[in-house]
Amino acid sequence: MVLLECDNVTKNFGALSAVHTVSFALNRGEALGMIGPNGAGKSTLFNCIIGLYRPTQGRIVFNGRDVTGMKPHQICRLGMAKTSQTVEPFRAMTVFENVLVAALHGGQMRMAEAARETAEVLEFVGLEDQSDKLSGDISVPARRRLELAKALATRAQVLLLDENMAGLNPNEIDEALDLLRKIRESGKSMIVVEHIMRAVMGIADRIVVLNYGAKIAEGKPSEVVNDPQVVEAYLGSKGVSLAHESDGRGND
Ligand SMILES: Nc1ncnc2c1ncn2[C@@H]1O[C@H](COP(=O)(O)OP(=O)(O)O)[C@@H](O)[C@H]1O
Ligand SMILES: [Mg+2]
Repeated sequence: MVLLECDNVTKNFGALSAVHTVSFALNRGEALGMIGPNGAGKSTLFNCIIGLYRPTQGRIVFNGRDVTGMKPHQICRLGMAKTSQTVEPFRAMTVFENVLVAALHGGQMRMAEAARETAEVLEFVGLEDQSDKLSGDISVPARRRLELAKALATRAQVLLLDENMAGLNPNEIDEALDLLRKIRESGKSMIVVEHIMRAVMGIADRIVVLNYGAKIAEGKPSEVVNDPQVVEAYLGSKGVSLAHESDGRGND
């Protein structure tokens, strides 16, 4: 069953069409991978879905409701949350407080319930023993988990994860993948944008490929990585084969 649908979504910045007539659907319970070279439009598309940008054209339908042009807080309250490519916690607040803010504002919970939810989510992501630390003082992998915790604390049904594994080493990527699988098993649906192919392949049921703002392929992971247009898009821009392991550092 379709949970989220993008129908011909276009986002222009002046003469640049950062996202160009992109259509795809996310099914309930699905993990959809989204890949594409730098500048392909992945983050812009996420920002359209989450209400940070109003699409120039096209429609976004969530749970049967047209959410095109709604504000981010409205969309969050309807059940979609995004983690950012650049991790920006409130550094002077503790880990606990950061997640609490998400539960209070995004999840619209009262204080006692929000505090309970925060404790549960921190345990779920494995940050319970760091909850009193300042967010500016925790490690990179812990910050990535904190981003996930903030999204989960809103009780969103759909998580949009924008390069949540950038900067992680191979062991940390494995741990992050385990956590994503656990989140998925808990009933969430997700769209996973990642440069790290092993990570995408390890979680995605299907993959959508963007290049220069347009969707160039969609299908099972094994089909998509062998698609000549996809291989060409990657060879053309990065000079690397999809078959090779990325270093996991991201590049933007
Ligand atoms: N706010 C903006 N104003 C102008 N151009 C933008 C803006 N955001 C992104 N772009 C451009 O849109 C294109 C897609 O960017 P982006 O969505 O960040 O790609 P990706 O996340 O796939 O790397 C790029 O050419 C980028 O420079
Ligand atoms: Mg991006």
